[in-house]
Amino acid sequence: MKKQLFYITFIFILNGYSQNPLFIPSTLSGTNFNLDIQAGTKAFYTGFNTPTFGINGTFLAPTLILNKGDNITLNVHNGLNTATTIHWHGLHVAAENDGGPHQIIPANTTWSPNFTVLNEAGTFWYHPHGEGKTDLQVAKGIAGFILVKDTVEAMLNLPRNYGIDDFPILIQTKAFDVLKQIAIATEEDTALFVNGTLQPYLDVPAQVVRLRLLNGSSMRSYMLGFTNDMTFQLIGTDGGLLDAPVSLTRLRVSPGERAEILVDLTGKMGQSFSLKNIGADLPNGIYGAADVGNGMATIPDYNLNPLNGANYDMLALNVVAQTANPITTIPSSLVAQNAWNPATVTQNRTFTFAPEVMSPATMVEGPFVINGKMFNIDSMDIVAHLNTVEKWKLVNNTLVAHPFHIHDMHFFLTSINGNPVPDFEKGKKDVVLVMPNEYVEFITKWEDFADNMTPYMYHCHLLHHEDDGMMGSFLVIDTLNTSIPFSIENEGFILFPNPTETEFHIQSTGNESLFYLKICDFEGRKIADFYPENEVIEVRNLAAGMYILQCYNKKGGNIFMQKWIKR
Ligand code: C2O
Ligand code: CU
Ligand code: CU
Repeated sequence: MKKQLFYITFIFILNGYSQNPLFIPSTLSGTNFNLDIQAGTKAFYTGFNTPTFGINGTFLAPTLILNKGDNITLNVHNGLNTATTIHWHGLHVAAENDGGPHQIIPANTTWSPNFTVLNEAGTFWYHPHGEGKTDLQVAKGIAGFILVKDTVEAMLNLPRNYGIDDFPILIQTKAFDVLKQIAIATEEDTALFVNGTLQPYLDVPAQVVRLRLLNGSSMRSYMLGFTNDMTFQLIGTDGGLLDAPVSLTRLRVSPGERAEILVDLTGKMGQSFSLKNIGADLPNGIYGAADVGNGMATIPDYNLNPLNGANYDMLALNVVAQTANPITTIPSSLVAQNAWNPATVTQNRTFTFAPEVMSPATMVEGPFVINGKMFNIDSMDIVAHLNTVEKWKLVNNTLVAHPFHIHDMHFFLTSINGNPVPDFEKGKKDVVLVMPNEYVEFITKWEDFADNMTPYMYHCHLLHHEDDGMMGSFLVIDTLNTSIPFSIENEGFILFPNPTETEFHIQSTGNESLFYLKICDFEGRKIADFYPENEVIEVRNLAAGMYILQCYNKKGGNIFMQKWIKR
């Protein structure tokens, strides 16, 4: 049965039979956005009503047009019968507004984050991020574009008429079961959608046209190009515009990534060609390439999927008449980039990807963990400091490539496996694909937002991996007491767990003994104190937040100070 399903899809795709006009999501703009998450059905295949999710409709989500500097409110109403969250992927917002797994929107409730748009002009997106639920809810249809505009971009001679010479292009593959229900079957994503349209075509004017590419697929990367092999100009990546256009004929995009490209169609009226995937050019190890694994281990059924390693058309483009006032030239420079100086890095961190349990099969199938830890919504993996420049090294000790994503800030790559960064990855990024057995380094800086309780996420943007726990959390805190450590193991004591909700233990590892313990806030005010009789300190009634513990010995001498988090 399964094989037959694949066979039918295969024929359909290779025909390159384009018959449906590309759907262009409607736009919402202003400063107050009402987003209604709803369930419904859609007839993708004649004779079948497929259950779907959408925002302000039953499938996909409107494009939000934001202006840098605007203070906006988003009223997100969850009309599903299950909880969700909505994350503004790439937007630089406070953790409580980020829409990660902690900002749960229960069924039939409204979440209304309010924030100022701080990002530079660029292409971002929004999608669900509930713990263990991201893949299904995105696949069922919740994914929308966020286009940020600013005055710097507005001065450039670029196409920016939405749906006329500036097009959102959301690329997704989906798996359908025999009843044509959208399924989380990672190896069976044989149906290719662009903006939710199967077999799409788009009429494009004979001038410079901007395509805002977003890979919203659960697992699959693409090597994009055009059937006429024309050169195109990459002008922007995840975080906004580049210094200058980069000329390309191929561009790899992994899940979560965005790329803005310009194609010059001047003089091409009447021609037809297609945006295509050259899957045969994707290096093995990337989900979507001909092979993942090393011969010893492969993903089960991977080779049955006709899209893997294949070349196929994605979106037919028919060049039609020019619009009034067409853009016909491509600017030679865009927006000067201000990457942080590597010399200012004061914090280095390494993140190692590995299977939770080591075996040939788990090296390709997972579940995967980061630094040995599976995601735990109740624990904090990292505490970072506001205004600190950090260098992260991502080490992939698995046999599959992982697109690693961080929330809050963008980053600049500094090396890929020790080699210089290729031009197409030199811009602001928030997702980077880390190849098997390679490493990637980037620098970032935590700016503007600190919160002692609510973390941001870092994770693999293969949604199946994310849902399986390949994710971690980080707090960005603001304290001038940077000298106070989080851990005092070398002072002769260990304190655990940190953070905690109900109680913690302080154990002496040497011969110093603890007599008096004071819990203070960051202003130094005493919140609680204890003369501990044993090593357990009960803190159930303390308000959640970050504190400083001051510990004294019997003679009143200060033994140590430590930061500690009450959840
Ligand atoms: Cu697009 Cu944390 O995700
Ligand atoms: Cu994100
Ligand atoms: Cu992954």
